[in-house]
Amino acid sequence: MNIKSTSMIDQPLLDPVQLRLLGHEEIQPVLDVFHGMSQRSRFLRFMTPMPRLPGSILRALVDVDQDKHVAMVAMVDDRTVGLGRYMMTGRKRAEVGLAVIDEYQARGIGRTLLDGLVAYGTIRGMEAFTFSTHFENRAALKLIRAAGATVTFEDGMAQGQLSLSPRPQPAPHATNG
Ligand SMILES: CC(C)(COP(=O)(O)OP(=O)(O)OC[C@H]1O[C@@H](n2cnc3c(N)ncnc32)[C@H](O)[C@@H]1OP(=O)(O)O)[C@@H](O)C(=O)NCCC(=O)NCCS
Repeated sequence: MNIKSTSMIDQPLLDPVQLRLLGHEEIQPVLDVFHGMSQRSRFLRFMTPMPRLPGSILRALVDVDQDKHVAMVAMVDDRTVGLGRYMMTGRKRAEVGLAVIDEYQARGIGRTLLDGLVAYGTIRGMEAFTFSTHFENRAALKLIRAAGATVTFEDGMAQGQLSLSPRPQPAPHATNG
C-alpha cells in the first residue's frame, strides 16, 4: 500500500478534487504528471528544458518523508492531475513546487494543492513557504499572491514569500486562584 493518509486528507478539500500524500518512492503519479505537462509547463516547473525526466530528478521527487519533504497528489475521478510539494530549506521554512497537467490547468487544482500544503505545513509548525518561479508565469504569480504571498523580482525570476499563520493554541484552563 503506497497511499498514506492523515486525518486532514481523508476528506477531499474541494470536491471533486481529492488530495492525498505521495508515498515514499511512489513513482507513477510523478510520471503521470510529468507526461501530462507540455514542454512549456515543464520548463516553468523545472526552469530548464525537460524533454525527459532524468532518473536522478525522479528519484529526488519521490524521496518524500512527509516531514522535511512533503508531496501531495491531486486526483480527479481517480486520475492524477497534479502534484504539489514542499521541501524544507531552513528551520520552519520550505520551498514549494506545483505542477498541474495541462488538460486540468486553470480549474482550481493548483489552488487546491497550495491550500493543502499550507494546511499540512501549518499543522506541522512551518512558518514560511517560499516560491521561485519565472517572472512571466502569470498563473503561478496569481496563485501565490492570492494566497497572501509577497513577491519580489530579480534576474528574470519572481520570488514569493508566504507567512503561515501559527496554529491557534488551546485556551489556557481557568484556575480558581
Ligand atoms: C502554475 C500552476 C501550478 C497553477 O495551477 P492551476 O491549477 O493551473 O491554477 P488555478 O486554476 O488554481 O488558478 C490559480 C490562479 O491562476 C489563474 N490562472 C490559471 N491559469 C492561468 C493562465 N494560463 N494565465 C493566467 N492566469 C491563470 C487563475 O485564474 C487563478 O487566479 P484567480 O484566482 O485570480 O482566478 C499550473 O498552471 C502549472 O502547473 N503550470 C506549469 C508548472 C508551473 O508553472 N509551476 C509553478 C512553478 S513552482
